[in-house]
Amino acid sequence: MEKKAGFSNRLGFVLAAAGSAVGLGNIWRFPYLAAKYGGGIFLLIYLILTVTFGFTLMITEIAIGRKTGKSCIQAYSDLNKRFSFLGYIAALVPMIIFPYYCVIGGWVVKFLGVYISNQAHKATTEGYFGSFISSTSGPIICLAIFLFLTAFVVLLGVEKGVERVSKFLMPILVVMSLGTAIYSLTIDGAIDGLIYYIKPNFSEFSIKTVVAAMGQLFYSMSLAMGIMITYGSYMKKSDNLEKSVRNIEIFDTSIAFLSGLMIVPAVFAFSGGDKDALQKGPTLMFETLPQVFDKMKGGHIFGLVFFLLVLFAALTSAISLMETIVSIIYDKFGFGRKKICIAVMILSFIIAIPSSLGFGVLSHITIIGYSILDFFDFISNNILMPIVALLTAVLVGFIVKPKTICDEVESSESFKSRKMYIVIIKYIVPVCMIVILVSSLVGYV
Ligand code: PHE
Repeated sequence: MEKKAGFSNRLGFVLAAAGSAVGLGNIWRFPYLAAKYGGGIFLLIYLILTVTFGFTLMITEIAIGRKTGKSCIQAYSDLNKRFSFLGYIAALVPMIIFPYYCVIGGWVVKFLGVYISNQAHKATTEGYFGSFISSTSGPIICLAIFLFLTAFVVLLGVEKGVERVSKFLMPILVVMSLGTAIYSLTIDGAIDGLIYYIKPNFSEFSIKTVVAAMGQLFYSMSLAMGIMITYGSYMKKSDNLEKSVRNIEIFDTSIAFLSGLMIVPAVFAFSGGDKDALQKGPTLMFETLPQVFDKMKGGHIFGLVFFLLVLFAALTSAISLMETIVSIIYDKFGFGRKKICIAVMILSFIIAIPSSLGFGVLSHITIIGYSILDFFDFISNNILMPIVALLTAVLVGFIVKPKTICDEVESSESFKSRKMYIVIIKYIVPVCMIVILVSSLVGYV
């Protein structure tokens, strides 16, 4: 029997898990959500949810992984046979997300290429992004590059690939984020944007703000898709679990906050305080930002560093998705890692193609009103993930009991937030998940 793969120490684990958590969600989604939902008030709610609700779900998943030493299918069935089905639903989520995540990763590759080849100005012409994603071969080639880079790291293994790349990229990411955020704040007119970003606007508080913050948190911490179970299964018994989760939270939240600092003041300054520019949503990163960089002194370099940073963040997240899929197949069927990696790479590429073409030649195809990519995103984030989290909370809260998780946490050190954990997992998580699920189903968010 081959020795179970694993992270070499706590730092390796924390950086790899943070690598998963920090992704496009932090850099692109968080800033525009914060801008849309009242700035500071959104930040405040997000922070409170992170240290309570996000903490609880994350510690649960990592503990399940470490206790069972398995990826999600096996892990849930080890906890309780009747919950095996939950492992299958959780396993489905990364399999759905991974292909389309690579499509977006491909767009980042393209934009980085544009900045490297000194064509940044061209990217600011009206409709540049739209015409790129609606073309056929360009986005597919970029997707292939992104997928190949990801597969290469996963192929190298947990310690030599995932851990080593995270240890290298994550510190660079922090330094680049800090540098770009500071630079962004020195732009004329940026301070008004800063105030808009961090000053709580209580009049904009609504239940919608809470639901949006919760949805974002969930996605941003890579919860309810088996990732943290897989990474937990690679964690040493002697490593402090609670402290690790706190570290990951700090990492994830800081990068999200810094991304807001890079983007909000710059966009604000260059659009003359026009809030609509910030609320462009999905196109903010690929359309509005290149325009901002174009007008900025040193904007070319700023843009290059920015897209490099986004690429790193997206890569470490994609790696965690692929690693999770590979470990699920490995635990279930026991084929060699190399074979699984190659098969997952080829299959994901094939599945990703319709998502990419959904913006071009297949744009006439819509599923319940969504483009193909958005449909996959909706099914995984708005439906499957809340279901997985809800049922996990029921399983842990009422069937195997929170003590199972608490004991696992305490196998290394005492569990400081034990009382809070029990209340949240039993009562608060289920209620919140039902709220998210219902809100998604009635199209509230
Ligand atoms: N947590 C990542 C982010 O914030 C998103 C992600 C989702 C990563 C699913 C992996 C898997 O962007």
